[in-house]
Amino acid sequence: MSQPAVSQNIILSLGPFQGITDHVFRNIFRLYFGGIDKMYTPFFTGIHKVNSKNLQGAEIDPLSNDTSSLVPQLLTNEAFELYNFSEYCKGLGYSEININLGCPYPRVAKKQRGSGLLAHPQKIDQLLEQHFSSNPLATGIKCRLGYENTATIKALATVFNRYPISELIIHARTGKQLYKGQVLLDEFEEILNDLIITPGYNGDLFSQKDFIERKKRFPAINHFMLGRGILSDPFLAMDIRAIDSSETDRKQIVQQFVEAIYLQRRAFSNDNLSIIGRMKELWSYLKYSFDDPQAIWRLIKKNNSFETYETAVKQAFENHNWIGQGFPKDEEQTY
Ligand SMILES: Cc1cc2nc3c(=O)[nH]c(=O)nc-3n(C[C@H](O)[C@H](O)[C@H](O)COP(=O)(O)O)c2cc1C
Repeated sequence: MSQPAVSQNIILSLGPFQGITDHVFRNIFRLYFGGIDKMYTPFFTGIHKVNSKNLQGAEIDPLSNDTSSLVPQLLTNEAFELYNFSEYCKGLGYSEININLGCPYPRVAKKQRGSGLLAHPQKIDQLLEQHFSSNPLATGIKCRLGYENTATIKALATVFNRYPISELIIHARTGKQLYKGQVLLDEFEEILNDLIITPGYNGDLFSQKDFIERKKRFPAINHFMLGRGILSDPFLAMDIRAIDSSETDRKQIVQQFVEAIYLQRRAFSNDNLSIIGRMKELWSYLKYSFDDPQAIWRLIKKNNSFETYETAVKQAFENHNWIGQGFPKDEEQTY
């Protein structure tokens, strides 16, 4: 399969998912699948000291992470936390950090953090001013197009244009939309015209077709962050790049991948049953790439012991076909 012109010279990244794309997921993903250039940690918070407890452990430890392609992310609206985070990550050998201005959850947004801060461009301005005067690691931002609506979009572009941010990744929704409804492509185009930096695009890339459409509409964009689409079909980045894997039995590889994550999570947690909940979260995406997502979900969701979970997974792979690229657009989600 030759690589289509639209997928040449692009960066594909794996978006962060709190509770799913931890170091176990990221490392095992790399063993089984290709096509991803860059990954981000789910956000850290509460970095009140340079060596905060929240930064101890495998999630950021260079021994369990590839520091050259992993970008640690922080959710904060405080310059001192950003400073602590940057210093700590520098010490570990990372070369870039990311600020989360996208988290939509009301508990977070109400405190003017995550996407909640997007309603206050002047506060972002102060935060970035202090941050960039402290000689930090290269710092990127992941944001949305606004919080309640896109009224602050021009002001946000003006603020972002003032600072040497290493990259800007925009999830083309507002915070209030959470993960629902259409992506706002006209509004994304508007901010694109106002920004000096060419941003990365994120939002609803669930198939190779979605990618091609988006790349055709925004030819200048060369960084695309994949989210729920690649959780649902881990071959998505390879398909976008048309990396030929026609000889491989995709279902078998996905089965090995899911089993490896399960076993490593069990080992890391000393067989804590809570990891079943985390596996279910992954399955809530994966199910869509099977021929009968509802049947898969019925099998998986009810399990609360390792034995029944393992039996259910075995049945899911034995009795169902892998289709791939099945994550539904919002209007198609019926369960
Ligand atoms: C359960 C869940 C957890 C997420 N955790 C994070 C996070 O820690 N940091 C972040 O920047 N985005 C987070 N996101 C957002 C995704 O990275 C991504 O931006 C979003 O799903 C939109 O992309 P998509 O439409 O391709 O899925 C999370 C999304 C979900 C659904």
